[in-house]
Amino acid sequence: GHPIHLPHSHQPDFTSLSELPDSYTWTPKDDPLLDAAPSPPAASENIPLIDLNHPDAANQIGSACRTWGAFQIANHGVPLELLQGIEFLTGSLFQLPVQRKLKAARSETGFSGYGVARISSFFNKQMWSEGFTITGSPLNDFRKLWPQHHLNNYCDIVEEYEEQMQKLASKLMWLSLTSLGVSEEDIKWASANPDLNWAQSALQLNHYPVCPEPDRAMGLAAHTDSTLLTILHQNNTAGLQVFRDDLGWVTVPPVPDSLVVNVGDLFHILSNGLFKSVLHRARVNQTRSRLSVAFLWGPQSDIKISPVPKLVSPVGSPLYRSVTWTEYLRTKATHFNEALSMIKNDI
Ligand code: SIN
Ligand code: FE2
Repeated sequence: GHPIHLPHSHQPDFTSLSELPDSYTWTPKDDPLLDAAPSPPAASENIPLIDLNHPDAANQIGSACRTWGAFQIANHGVPLELLQGIEFLTGSLFQLPVQRKLKAARSETGFSGYGVARISSFFNKQMWSEGFTITGSPLNDFRKLWPQHHLNNYCDIVEEYEEQMQKLASKLMWLSLTSLGVSEEDIKWASANPDLNWAQSALQLNHYPVCPEPDRAMGLAAHTDSTLLTILHQNNTAGLQVFRDDLGWVTVPPVPDSLVVNVGDLFHILSNGLFKSVLHRARVNQTRSRLSVAFLWGPQSDIKISPVPKLVSPVGSPLYRSVTWTEYLRTKATHFNEALSMIKNDI
């Protein structure tokens, strides 16, 4: 059939469907890597779980960034109550009646609010998920969802969560760069502003309802993040998968109190391709709904990202041209799967 392109604000109440509509049924035509598996089947492997208190954490992170582009971290210092708080908020938000959520629908041009997955426009089929994007203060959007007496508490949770995530993201960036011999002096735009006002971020809340035919549905289609780093909290329902050429799709099991970290495209560029931005997706489930909270982290719009000179010299010339986050997103909007190769230096 013909894919139905629902306007962003018109998510059907698909939680009540008992059969998967055609527009939600994915085949390899819709995604060439849908069932990608190596032959012969590879031994099962997992992304590393790294203890941030371990004396060798920097090298372990660096190694994970090179081989997987993703890892989990324990002892990250983010209070457990805060992880529970943001998960509770996310659950309460998506439990609201559809009509209420639609009051905070993301507008055609806007960035924040309720809607289908942000990457939906790049695919023919619908994804089995709903999302809510937060940039800056969530107050205006939250007002449309909840009565006054909830707002202070919910806004505090978001603010505190973002503050903790920013500190953690910066720590992870420097730890992984340290493993490459890169220090703060080597990245002027960051070291000149150690208080992190060179960075910007967004929170993406995701809900994957239970699905009648999970094997034929897709929660969030395969993509790489356009960020420097993404830090993901998932509830205790599996669904996230990362791709490796030699292993195929590998499920990232939920580990209580730990966080998932993804290398994004900008970190790939900054590291001159040494760190791999990881292709990942989310599958869905027949019995359990799944929640995730992604902290998307990158540089302010006027900052040019280019390969760190120290990492270029062994190779000879930088693999990528310099780009701002805004320029990169524009490239990605027209070349979803080829954005990184579009900015390759032609030598
Ligand atoms: C994401 O890629 O932004 C979210 C993936 C997930 O829900 O695990
Ligand atoms: Fe992602």
